[in-house]
Amino acid sequence: MFIPIILGTAREGRQSEKAAQFVLEEVLKYGLESEILDVRDFRLPATDASKQSDVAKKLAEKITRADGLIVVSPEYNHGYPGELKMMLDMLYTEYAHKPLGICGVSMGGLGGVRMVEQLRQVATELHMVNIREAIYFSGIQNLFENGKIKDESFGGRVKTMLDELVWYANTLKQGIK
Ligand SMILES: Cc1cc2nc3c(=O)[nH]c(=O)nc-3n(C[C@H](O)[C@H](O)[C@H](O)COP(=O)(O)O)c2cc1C
Repeated sequence: MFIPIILGTAREGRQSEKAAQFVLEEVLKYGLESEILDVRDFRLPATDASKQSDVAKKLAEKITRADGLIVVSPEYNHGYPGELKMMLDMLYTEYAHKPLGICGVSMGGLGGVRMVEQLRQVATELHMVNIREAIYFSGIQNLFENGKIKDESFGGRVKTMLDELVWYANTLKQGIK
């Protein structure tokens, strides 16, 4: 089962990369196939839903193959980063009927909860199935030491999300009407 992870910010010095890397390791440990789809590699100068660009074709190949999706993203001014939205907007039908798990990242204590809730609205329009279990990487600047997460409970949180994600991916693939 292929569950890629979108890293939602291209910001220089982004802390969210550490969270995305941690989630990737946990997904691989769980026994799934995965890779990080970095917004830095899927950038366009303006919104383009024509699917003609090389990056859109590359993204379409990944999302079509995916059985579900995880987004790891910071919250910027109580929303999702613009580059994440532009990346998602390149495609439409490719996302349909696939489960989505969202991981928020923030310096403060809320872990990007407002970004998570806003992204759920976008996912609904993309015909994705939102997983209830989100993960909130709060206090990100102090959460990692030498690339390792200090709070080991996050491993269990990712597992709980993956249990749901995999259940929905399998169930949705059966095409239950
Ligand atoms: C433009 C901008 C807006 C931000 N807005 C918020 C916010 O609304 N809520 C929040 O908790 N943190 C906010 N932050 C701080 C992020 O939590 C912080 O940068 C954190 O390290 C995660 O983002 P990063 O991956 O860019 O490092 C903002 C940061 C930037 C650069």
